[in-house]
Order: sequence, then structure tokens, then C-alpha cells
Amino acid sequence: MATDAGNPITRFPAGFLWGVSTSAHQIEGAAKEREASVWDVFTAEPGRVKDGSTAAVACDHYHRYREDVALLAGLGVDAYRFSVSWPRVNSPGGLDFYDRLVDELCAAGVRPVPTLFHWDLPASLDWLERDTAARFADHVSVVAERLGDRVTKWITLNEPAEHTLLGHALGAHAPGRQLLFDALPVAHHQLLAHGLAVRALRAAGAGDIGIANSHGPTWPASKDPADLEAAAFYDVLLNRLFADPVILGAYPEGLGELMPGDVQADLKVIGEPVDWYGINYYAPTRVGAPQGTEIEFGGLTLPAELPFSVREIEDRPVTDFGWPVVPEGLTELLTGFRDRYGDRLPPIVITENGCSYEGIDDQDRIAYLDGHVRALHAALEAGVDVRGYFVWSLLDNFEWAEGYARRFGLVHVDFADPTLKRTPKASYHWFRDVLRAQR
Ligand code: NOJ
Repeated sequence: MATDAGNPITRFPAGFLWGVSTSAHQIEGAAKEREASVWDVFTAEPGRVKDGSTAAVACDHYHRYREDVALLAGLGVDAYRFSVSWPRVNSPGGLDFYDRLVDELCAAGVRPVPTLFHWDLPASLDWLERDTAARFADHVSVVAERLGDRVTKWITLNEPAEHTLLGHALGAHAPGRQLLFDALPVAHHQLLAHGLAVRALRAAGAGDIGIANSHGPTWPASKDPADLEAAAFYDVLLNRLFADPVILGAYPEGLGELMPGDVQADLKVIGEPVDWYGINYYAPTRVGAPQGTEIEFGGLTLPAELPFSVREIEDRPVTDFGWPVVPEGLTELLTGFRDRYGDRLPPIVITENGCSYEGIDDQDRIAYLDGHVRALHAALEAGVDVRGYFVWSLLDNFEWAEGYARRFGLVHVDFADPTLKRTPKASYHWFRDVLRAQR
């Protein structure tokens, strides 16, 4: 891939937050030391996870967190985005782990940025139930009470879009439901949970609150009206359905009517102002009119009855996952957000960006990240207020339905080795040097 790698990356503004991200279920292991989540149940069902693996041990970060914090310190990041497992918090001693982790991070000079829900819902709960939103707010209060003296930046939810779509509409993720459009209440209840969490955090005296939503540009397959209509629909479903209520306190036209409960009252909660808006960006999606057939896409099978089809983005390198590498899609996404939301758009933080590639001398990951950091700078130059960038991920980890087959880490983990040996990849050293040059 042609890159600018080698030329120094332009300086970002002082105070720009550089970090890396992980999530609890994907790295912690120690599954016996917490109650079960929907992901434990799902993983135990044959055929759900492609390599038949589970996250029972994963990177064993629960026991090896000191080593991992040392890796963070060596990398020189300002901040570390991790998630707090709700099932662990519900279990005896569970919060003590996050206490230790936060202490270790603070001692290493790395700012802790917890996500309060990253898909590992307690197995006894269900996002189809409205009450789960209220239960989440209780969980948030408990965590804020315990960690709020040291944590100064918070994330409510991770990617409610994917959790709705993959988990409840298509059945590719836990809890494995295939409700298609009947999954919409799951989106609404998570958004409500987000708003209630913002209130709970503020009530606990916490500030600097955001959400991590996944977004990407939608590229119509052609100028044909049927393709344009399908692409606009896809954009509403994956982008605007989750951004509009948080940023504008309103659903895109026609969707509010499909949601359960007193939607207007709920939107006041959902639109509770956030201090910043987190975006997970991986790639754009090419979308066209339905083709009446199932489509295999990025490890997913999309059913024929969807009102759109996903097409290949041609002439682009792809990652091991088959996702196209389109750095300028990030600039396009961010300027598009600025144009769409104008003054209502809070400052943006890129809460995830990364790619799956094999190998320790991972020059393709360096090219991917280098291109995206430059594309981010281009968005800043175009006047978008971006305040931070987090790489997904610190470690190779349990990539959900793909198991351990997809490696996103800056640090390699040898899952066959009993000590789960960590080896920094070439991209780790590259990112460390980028960060040093920014100081
Ligand atoms: C988004 C999710 O938040 C994260 O859990 C996942 O591993 C990455 N994307 C890569 O698929």
C-alpha cells in the first residue's frame, strides 16, 4: 500500500489525547470469578464462535494487568480505554479488580477511561426489557461511587448499533437473536440506558462523559435511485439512529414511531448533553438496492429480506477480516458529521480505530494506522473539533464470533503458550515513536 509513512506526522494540538482501547470480555478471562454474561451463554452454544473458542481465559488480563499496564506505560499513551464488566461488578470482589487496575494506571501516569457497557450483559438481563436501562443506571452509580475519585473521563456504552444489529437482529453475536426490525426496542433501551447513565454519573459528581458509537460513511453503489434510497436507509439505520438521539434529542424521521414506551419523554433523557462524542471508525460501507439473495460480508451472513445489500469496495487493500482500508473515509465521516450536526456536535474523540492482521512485523497495520492518523489530522485542518484518538487494540484478544482468529493488537499474545506471552509488534514501536514525536 502506498503510504506517507516515513514522513513525520503533523503535530496535533497540545492536550490531544492519545490512547489505546480494550474491552473486559475480550481480554480479562477469569470467567469463574464473576457471574455469567450473555456472551458466556452464547459461546457455549456449538457453532456460535467460529474457532469454537471461549473467553474463559482470553488474555488473562485479570491476573496479568500489571504487565499490561507496563506495556501501556512503555507505549507512552496518555489514556487507556477499558471496559468495566457488569457481571464482574455484580460478583463479590469484582469492583476490587477495577480499583487495583485504576490505581496501577494512575501510578503509571496513564489516564483511565472506563466504558461502562461493552456488550457483556449479565445473563439474567435482556435489552428487550425496558427495566434493563434502569438497572444499568444503578450499575453506573455503583462504579462511579467506587472509582470516581480517580476516574475523570467516562464512556457510557460501546457500539449500541452493533450490539443491536449483530446481537439481536442478525444473531451473529450474543444473545443470538434474529429479530431483524423487531430488534429496534433493543436500540431504544440502550439509548435510554445511555441517557440515564449520563444523569447517574452527573449525580455522582462525575464529568467529561461521552459514548462510543460506531460510524462510517455510506457509499451508494451507483446513482440509480434504488441504490441511493437503499444507501440512505442504511445510513439512517447504522449512523443516524444512534447519533441523532444523542446529539439532537430526536430520532430520524419515521423511526420514533417504531420505538416502545413514551418516546418523547425518553428522548429528553437520551439527549442529555454529553461532554464529547466518541466514534469508532473502521471503514466505509458500499450499499445498494436489495439483490434478493443472502450476502456474505465481513464474516456476516446478511439475509435476503433486508431492504439493502452490501457490496464490495473495489480497488482497495483489505484487512484479514476483509474490511477495506480507506483512511480518507475518516476525514469524510468527520466533516460529514460537522456538516450534519453543526453547532450541536460536541467535540469528537476517536474511541476506536484499527485493523486485523497476522504477524509481529505488522507493516500493514502500521500503514493502516499511519494513514488514519493523517486522515484525522486532515479533519482537524478542515475545522472539525477532534480531541483524541484511541487505537483498537492494545492486545490481540477474543474477537467475538471470530474467536482468536482475528488479531487487532499492537501487542501479540501467544494464546497457545500457558503464560500467554505478550510480544510488542512493529506497530507498537511505531505508535510509541509517533507519540514521542508529538510531545
Ligand atoms: C468494535 C468493538 O467495539 C470491539 O469490541 C471489536 O473488537 C472491534 N470493533 C473490532 O471488530
